[in-house]
Amino acid sequence: MPAVKSLDGPVAVTGASGYIGSHVVVALMKHGYNVHACITDLNNPEKTDHLLKLNQCDYSGQLDLFSANLLEEGSYDIPFTDCIAVLHAATPMGYGGANTPHQVYDGMLNGTKNILNSVKKVGTVKRFVYTSSFAAIHHPMPSGYIFTEKDWATDNRDNDPSWSHNRIDEDGVMAYNMAKIETELMCYDFAEKDGRFDVISACPNSVLGPVLSKVHNSVGSWQWCIGQMLMRVTCKRAWNYLWNIVDVRDVGESQVLMIESKVSKNRSRYQLCATDESGEINVLQLQALLLKLFPKVNVGGPPDEIHAIINKYGNVYQTPLAHCDKARKELGLETHSVEDTLRETGQTMIDLGLVKPNWK
Ligand SMILES: NC(=O)c1ccc[n+]([C@@H]2O[C@H](COP(=O)([O-])OP(=O)(O)OC[C@H]3O[C@@H](n4cnc5c(N)ncnc54)[C@H](OP(=O)(O)O)[C@@H]3O)[C@@H](O)[C@H]2O)c1
Repeated sequence: MPAVKSLDGPVAVTGASGYIGSHVVVALMKHGYNVHACITDLNNPEKTDHLLKLNQCDYSGQLDLFSANLLEEGSYDIPFTDCIAVLHAATPMGYGGANTPHQVYDGMLNGTKNILNSVKKVGTVKRFVYTSSFAAIHHPMPSGYIFTEKDWATDNRDNDPSWSHNRIDEDGVMAYNMAKIETELMCYDFAEKDGRFDVISACPNSVLGPVLSKVHNSVGSWQWCIGQMLMRVTCKRAWNYLWNIVDVRDVGESQVLMIESKVSKNRSRYQLCATDESGEINVLQLQALLLKLFPKVNVGGPPDEIHAIINKYGNVYQTPLAHCDKARKELGLETHSVEDTLRETGQTMIDLGLVKPNWK
């Protein structure tokens, strides 16, 4: 299907109030698109105000808010009317126990089915970007393996009893990973059968960068962990392997490039990861960077057990190693430095009053 451009018509973003969705909206407006921003609750100012403010910025695009819910069939028929592209970032997340693993799994698949049916009904959409995840790429491999878009989360699972639909209730991480890969494949198959639009997937790794609203501080999210570290709390997420940091602004920008790309086609997928090893860091390195960027703050680090691991093996488990080479080469994506990403994460959280730093 042909690439689209801003003059062709409006575009819709699902999950527009969310952390990634909001930055997708910003990137689209910077590129001159008129955006149908879909959110669940138009009466919650923490979900709407940061979006409405964008209409006052010096962007060439404009934004209209629409109310829609993934779990209701036909809910997106009106928001998608006349749209030439849909950028689908909404999904029920499990952050802080907000949804059970089964709700996350079912909500992702059934919600996306509803979205695809609305795309089919309106008939004007040429490009559909699915915010998948690096979770749909990553699979068990020895330390040091470098992942690319050719990897699938189902690889090497034949004899893996932990990868089973029977375990959805008990293993939230597996439920999420499984739903991501199944949803990604469902989208490609649906588009192929329909024949009128292409699905292109964005597969971000650990997303960090400017927080635009208080609702972007979900408990357990990567950005929440940075906030905790600035409050001198021990970081227990991904402390015994690597963080692989991508800037949320780059996730937004890449999705605009995906709808405009003449190279991308149905089934194209782009891992959105570190540009190089500067974004692949263990929590001790992360702590050191935060101390350099916020010199007046006491910064929390990993649990003490990390030192025993480093003494024994020389470092933590070297995964996930993965770079955004394909997105840079095919889409022309330019990425922020990891220092800029971390500075903006921490500073915006402090400015929004989400973090009270542990001052020295
Ligand atoms: N953050 C990461 O590190 C990361 C990495 C890889 C992939 N991803 C993926 O990126 C996407 C966005 O994640 P995020 O980090 O931006 O999370 P987020 O801030 O929690 O955003 C999730 C969005 O989903 C929407 N949503 C939830 N239930 C909905 C429903 N029933 N109907 C309509 N919308 C619903 C929410 O909308 P309302 O606020 O309007 O309820 C919210 O805007 C997800 O698909 C996630 O899996 C995230």
